[in-house]
Amino acid sequence: MKLLVTGGAGFIGSNFILYWLKQYPNDSIVNLDLLTYAGNLENLISVENNPNYEFVHGDICNSQLVNSLTRNIDIIVHFAAESHVDRSIQNASPFIQTNIVGTYTLLEAALKNKVKRFHHISTDEVFGALELNSQDKFHLDSPYNPHSPYSASKASSDHLVRAYGTTYNLPYTISNCSNNFGPYQFPEKFISLVITNVLENKYIPIYGDGLYVRDWLYVEDHCEAIDVILHKGKVGSTYLVGGLTKDISNIEVIYQILDEMKKDKTLIHFVKDRPGHDRRYAIDWSQTTSELEWKPKHSFADALQKTILWYKNNQEWWKRIKTGAYLNYYKQQYG
Ligand code: NAD
Ligand code: DAU
Repeated sequence: MKLLVTGGAGFIGSNFILYWLKQYPNDSIVNLDLLTYAGNLENLISVENNPNYEFVHGDICNSQLVNSLTRNIDIIVHFAAESHVDRSIQNASPFIQTNIVGTYTLLEAALKNKVKRFHHISTDEVFGALELNSQDKFHLDSPYNPHSPYSASKASSDHLVRAYGTTYNLPYTISNCSNNFGPYQFPEKFISLVITNVLENKYIPIYGDGLYVRDWLYVEDHCEAIDVILHKGKVGSTYLVGGLTKDISNIEVIYQILDEMKKDKTLIHFVKDRPGHDRRYAIDWSQTTSELEWKPKHSFADALQKTILWYKNNQEWWKRIKTGAYLNYYKQQYG
């Protein structure tokens, strides 16, 4: 089988490529990535000489390139996106371009070249926010109600994918997943930022009252879910993928990290809240379990421990990022 993976040099995409080539060594993968600030080929050093792996540096908005790469492809797994909410609040433009126009460009190429499956990676943020302390969860029939430019652009891309399925019979699947964490996550996202700041003895910025809730999913569990969807998922279906069964607030996540890293709470720093900050996410993945027999294998505590260990053992990886162009973004965001 031949896969075109978009955004494969990013956090989840690179974890997926490493996972897939290990599981299915006879499959081949073309990785199309623009190498924005978030793309890092270091993540893929272990497969760069694999004859079944090819990297192409380019933009998913480039229709000629995308069209030529899609010929002879069986499956497109579409990760490429601008993915950070705070950056979308600073400047929405690249989000509109990559997440909407880029997805449209890929859909056109997929149709033209008759790919057997277009799998779109999306997010639970398209459903908006849930009430704190409620038992509510996002379901497959939850209405779309995105709040940030990022989530609005992802919602648009979901609608486009479904429209191509309905109108042109494009064989698609979609997964809407919760907050991923694990190895190779760019240290702008909460858990990777907290761990690396603790390792640097820097203050930990926590937004607002710190009582916001996210549903945390270990990236390896997410890769397994995509695998199962590609093999057993029904064309034209959407699957929800999450990691937790119990709410955990951001401040509690920080306490767990500090506890695991044997540091006290003095590093915690409450800072200005994110505009339009979604209060709570929780995702009901029971249908994915009943239909596809998938459920996350890792507990939050085990996955957090593994993740902390990875950042401890791979300091050069994130230090190179944190001393580069990321410094300008950090100053703008946190002062
Ligand atoms: P990331 O920001 O780490 O990586 C994105 C990758 O896409 C980078 O390698 C970047 O270079 C590439 N890219 C960006 N614009 C491109 C373009 N125009 N053409 C080609 N490549 C381009 O993102 P991630 O966290 O790995 O997220 C991957 C996907 O999963 C995204 O679609 C995101 O919306 C979705 N998602 C992420 C999470 C999460 O918690 N990280 C949760 C739910 C859904
Ligand atoms: O829910 C899935 C989404 O999860 C994905 O679609 C996005 O691509 C991904 O970035 C993530 O979005 P969030 O906004 O939930 O993740 P982030 O890591 O930015 O923030 C997680 C929580 O931590 C959120 O409540 C904001 C808070 N936070 C974040 C940062 C960066 C802080 O309190 N301080 C911070 O410095």
